[in-house]
Amino acid sequence: MSNYHIKHLEEYYQVYRKSIRNPEQFWEEVAEEHFLWRKKWNAVLHWDFSKPEIKWFEGAKLNITENCIDRHLATRGDKTAILFEPNNPEEPAEHITYKQLHHRVNQFANVLKEQGIEKGDRVCIYVPMIPELAISLLACARIGAIHSVVFAGFSSTALATRINDADCKMVITADGSYRGAKTIDLKGIVDEALQNCPTVKTVLVAKRINSDITMKEGRDKWLQPLLDAASDQCKATVMDAEDPLFILYTSGSTGMPKGMVHTIAGYMVYTAYTFKNAFQYKEEDVYWCTADIGWITGHSYIVYGPLANGATTVMYEGVPSYPDFGRFWQIVEKHKVNQFYTAPTAIRALAKQGVELVDKYDLSSLKVLGSVGEPINEEAWHWYNDNVGKGKSPIIDSWWQTETGGMMITPIPYVTPTKPTYATLPFIGIQPCLMDENGDELKGNQTEGRLCIKFPWPSIARTIWGNHQRYKDTYFSTFKNMYFTGDGALRDEVGYYRITGRVDDVIIVSGHNLGTAPIEDAINEHPAVAESAIVGFPHDIKGSALYGYITLKDIGESRNHDNLRKEINQIISDKIGPIAKLDKIQFTQGLPKTRSGKIMRRILRKIASNELSNLGDVSTLLDPEVVENIIKDKL
Ligand code: WTA
Repeated sequence: MSNYHIKHLEEYYQVYRKSIRNPEQFWEEVAEEHFLWRKKWNAVLHWDFSKPEIKWFEGAKLNITENCIDRHLATRGDKTAILFEPNNPEEPAEHITYKQLHHRVNQFANVLKEQGIEKGDRVCIYVPMIPELAISLLACARIGAIHSVVFAGFSSTALATRINDADCKMVITADGSYRGAKTIDLKGIVDEALQNCPTVKTVLVAKRINSDITMKEGRDKWLQPLLDAASDQCKATVMDAEDPLFILYTSGSTGMPKGMVHTIAGYMVYTAYTFKNAFQYKEEDVYWCTADIGWITGHSYIVYGPLANGATTVMYEGVPSYPDFGRFWQIVEKHKVNQFYTAPTAIRALAKQGVELVDKYDLSSLKVLGSVGEPINEEAWHWYNDNVGKGKSPIIDSWWQTETGGMMITPIPYVTPTKPTYATLPFIGIQPCLMDENGDELKGNQTEGRLCIKFPWPSIARTIWGNHQRYKDTYFSTFKNMYFTGDGALRDEVGYYRITGRVDDVIIVSGHNLGTAPIEDAINEHPAVAESAIVGFPHDIKGSALYGYITLKDIGESRNHDNLRKEINQIISDKIGPIAKLDKIQFTQGLPKTRSGKIMRRILRKIASNELSNLGDVSTLLDPEVVENIIKDKL
């Protein structure tokens, strides 16, 4: 029996049982057999969910880039590590071998050092999906700097907030980015953000779109000449297992985004192990995850997990719709992609286009299809299964989170029988449970509750940067001695899990987590707005879209409402990013509140979703007339 590569259902159960009965022994064996350590650990696991404190492989020394790059050089030096497919299909793809990746990461790491970056410093990476993005993460890791990637679709305000939260010393960016037929002025956004970021000393700029940008003397430097002048040899800094590898921000239901901190060894072991099994990756395979490296999916399953397995990982710069909606399938055919991992929102958008665009291409290389980021609805699941997988490539509907670092509940392809819309069984080492609202565990099958995890796994985030109390309050205080996911789930008659969605005020729009409070804060800055409440409602492509109920200060506000709607969405776009724009804005005379003044979002959610016949308990409502008016004026 192999602990590392699970090939049959029987083996899954055996390994799973072993991983639960004796997690320390199990993870020790995996860690020992499959990774390169400079020094072994003193203890495999130390944990206390009440503090909370979690440490894996404490005392061990390593560098993750030696695991992702150096150790492959002897056996896979000329194998493609990163296969870059540009936005423009006419531009040739770039194959970066492990040897070349080694050189480029070393050069980049040397540039970081020359620019004064030291172990433990935070580096903000705001780079589009070009090779420099993946390379910059690895370069930070090479010298022990902590990377904080900000998705290059966030606004300057959102970028500044994240830079300041982590006191970043440097920003890595590009002159601009390609997105289909459009270009985006990234450097301009960075310049605006940096007006309010005193800690940033240096900005490294990759050239991508050759636009005319301004370079601030003494601060901004073109990346390429520095790389050209740098040595391609750079010793990896020896790191502690529990040193931070990166910070990645995710939305909370209230307040600032949370800078989730992942540490090196546990994250490496778990992302590598899940990658191998959940994709059944074999040596010659070409693997493609369509996510952006700005999100956790890209960190774990474009960069670290695949490279730790010596895989070929595709990085695609563009969008699914350019030059037409057949682009994904054209790329699958062109590079003979074997494993394809995408999001339900992309599947739904592509399904809308009809199957001709799929059938045009030879997809026979595909062996495994993946889905992540939000619940996949039944229709999209079948479309994906029938038209892309031709009924022969299992779909892994993988549930996990920025906080979990790696996949938590997912089928293992060719091992776990799939069931539409079900994430199925816990991955090896994961102990999920369902809790009721009183804090009691719901035992047995055919039950539904709040999804928690009972026992730590190697890649659980260790804290929120600069705010350990918030980490404790958010994840470990709702249920005693449990990690609370914020999701609801049900367990069917055979023990398969289906994720039903968020149970907090996070709304997932096109796979992006959005907290309602920060959006409301942005809206409330508009001088005409008195109060607002945002809820999600079902949308056939985005999964959920945002519905805003907004009360104006002056009911007779003279400006025409469509202009106000535009202004409000512009504020949201500026403060957060275009992804947080509202699909619907209803101006209301008031919002439904309880006697204690709390907005009753539950009712607003039902109205937005057109579930008018059953608004639930309205007995605590202060003024029922408010609700009647809202229903009357519903969009
Ligand atoms: C949701 C993305 C249903 C869930 C890796 C979770 C899912 C949040 C699935 C985390 C899935 C993710 N089925 N829901 N397969 N995968 N989610 O942090 O609500 O961007 O809590 O991590 O996405 O989103 P995040």
